[in-house]
Amino acid sequence: MPAARAQNANALEMSVNAAYILTMKTSILPVTLALFGCAGPALSQTAPIAPVTDTTPQIEVRRAIIVEPAPVVSIDDLPRTLPPEVKRVYTECQVPGNVIAITFDDGPHPQNTPRLLDLLKERGIKAPFFLIGKSAATWPDIVRRIVAEGHEIGNHTWSHPQLTSLKESRVLSELQATHDAIVKAGGVAPLLYRPPYGATRLSQQKLIHDHFQYPAIMWDVDPLDWQQPRTVAKVHDRVLARTHSGSIILCHDIHEPTVDAMPSTLDELMAKGFHFVTVTQLINLEARSAPPQPPPVAATTSAPADSRAL
Ligand code: NI
Repeated sequence: MPAARAQNANALEMSVNAAYILTMKTSILPVTLALFGCAGPALSQTAPIAPVTDTTPQIEVRRAIIVEPAPVVSIDDLPRTLPPEVKRVYTECQVPGNVIAITFDDGPHPQNTPRLLDLLKERGIKAPFFLIGKSAATWPDIVRRIVAEGHEIGNHTWSHPQLTSLKESRVLSELQATHDAIVKAGGVAPLLYRPPYGATRLSQQKLIHDHFQYPAIMWDVDPLDWQQPRTVAKVHDRVLARTHSGSIILCHDIHEPTVDAMPSTLDELMAKGFHFVTVTQLINLEARSAPPQPPPVAATTSAPADSRAL
């Protein structure tokens, strides 16, 4: 929150909380002053009040209704690190307000990713990029630009295999090589991963979380830009129709029509009041907004059987 706004909010809160409204039958001026936060010393709790007698005007003393200011969340203040309590899988987040994350997979691409970065920069939008390790190693300058312009990078494996068909050692090596390539190119360690095709086993989610502390980031809005026909209208229409508060949108910046669709898609999402954040920011906003959890109860059932989650 800007300093001036914070001061204004504090001043308003203090004046309303401290004010005791004196309603004098002969005047409404003190009430008016208190309602507008202008209550001066004469209206304070310690102000002397003349004793009520039969010969003095009747004075009624009422305590003002305490008005709690609405919580103000500044998107820029949301952390870009994960909060202490993180779920293993996110498909969307439960957040207040129209806050969303639009994610881009399978890059970096030598032409489409820089073009997308220009579009995001023009609009002041920050986005998560789930990079393929071998592409990050091939185009490290683009990785550096993604980081320098304030976007977030997630791990999308080295060669985009379907993890459900791999042994544990190969799952870990795919992610480790990509982690290292992103650190080498961009100087930052990824905090998240997205399994190719969204395919992973519960046992693999645990393995990856234990090893890298990554949560798996899925999506709730899929414009099907990975599927033919790839058209601007399909991406635009599906994203605009399906995005809601807390959505995680899946896009692929390796496909030219997807990047072509971004100017109108992003502008219309902003016109609808949506604000864009990174996935870690969205997770932090959900963590801050969640009601207090009851204390854990000892498990009485066995763990769910390993199954494929797409
Ligand atoms: Ni992918």
